[in-house]
Amino acid sequence: MSAAKKKIIRNVKISGTGSYAPSGVYTNEYLETIVDTKAPWIYENLGIKQRHIVAKGETTSDLGAKAALKAIADAKLTPEDIDLIIFATTTPDMKAPSTACFVQEKIGAFNAGAFDVVAVCTGFLYAISLATDCLSNGNYKHILVIGADTFSTITDWTRRDAVFFGDGAGAVVLSRIEDESGFVISKVGADGRGKMIWHIPAGGSQHPIDENTAKDRLQYWQMDGKGIYNTAIRVLPQVISEVLSDSGLKMEDIKYMVPHQPSLKILKKTAELINFDFDKVLTNMDQYGNTSAASIPILLDETNKAGKLTRGDNLLFAAVGSGMAWGAMILKW
Ligand SMILES: CC(C)(COP(=O)(O)OP(=O)(O)OC[C@H]1O[C@@H](n2cnc3c(N)ncnc32)[C@H](O)[C@@H]1OP(=O)(O)O)[C@@H](O)C(=O)NCCC(=O)NCCS
Repeated sequence: MSAAKKKIIRNVKISGTGSYAPSGVYTNEYLETIVDTKAPWIYENLGIKQRHIVAKGETTSDLGAKAALKAIADAKLTPEDIDLIIFATTTPDMKAPSTACFVQEKIGAFNAGAFDVVAVCTGFLYAISLATDCLSNGNYKHILVIGADTFSTITDWTRRDAVFFGDGAGAVVLSRIEDESGFVISKVGADGRGKMIWHIPAGGSQHPIDENTAKDRLQYWQMDGKGIYNTAIRVLPQVISEVLSDSGLKMEDIKYMVPHQPSLKILKKTAELINFDFDKVLTNMDQYGNTSAASIPILLDETNKAGKLTRGDNLLFAAVGSGMAWGAMILKW
């Protein structure tokens, strides 16, 4: 990870949030009937009670577009006001074009450029970090950042690790402001030596789809759970400490941690290691499971709409996942 101190961006704010989850639900009790697992184990270890699952034919861009329209309305803007769409996902509608282009058409944001970011569970954090840099440089006024995934479409529903993920979408509109009343600082990192800890073997140039792919079930993600846990509890405390130090703030200045939702165990251990009160760590994995790139924006939207945020609150975002890739951001609401 680079040791360079990050700059505080003061002319950017979040002007709207939105989220959407499909109506289908798989409870832990339902999963007990299809894979070798136990509902109490899932809740105690992962913190999950249920996850939302797309209907057949319902796509990542369908979810993303619904979340995006809510975020744009919340910002009191129209789709024509959006200059750029950045879509974080690992489950695009198609390999090409970008899912951002599907959304651009669905919401009618024809003044916007559009592209995807792939950083799996850290995708949204990478995307908002990039968006704040683009805005602060003055070339854009409003950027729509969407995190959406439909991991149910890449999960092997015969294996017990199918319990981890769910489908959903969250979005924010980030806007440039004319004064210096904002405060955003972020740091992202990666270590490609851990790239196989969570991966999807087939469908890329290394292993194109062929007649054996489905037979060997290589289109589904594979995970080394212990590898993820051990990496997560090492890199999350490190990147959080670094971003906090660069910000000049102290742990007690943070109102809430709004983290990605990998598992309760990872979040509890991280909070313990950085000495952060777990009551201030927001979670919603009980209702959604891990929705990968959608986790942080869904949680942020729910917190916002519940009226829990006051202007000036310092929020800490943090995420880790496949890559391995990770990041943290402090943003003044
Ligand atoms: C997956 C994880 C829970 C496994 O725990 P572990 O202690 O490392 O691994 P083990 O395979 O030794 O399993 C421990 C126990 O849990 C049980 N277990 C593991 N997965 C299970 C599942 N899906 N359902 C029910 N029980 C399960 C095992 O049977 C074992 O039980 P036992 O102690 O009675 O034998 C843990 O590594 C983890 O949380 N990793 C992080 C994964 C993650 O967050 N992924 C998403 C982010 S990308």
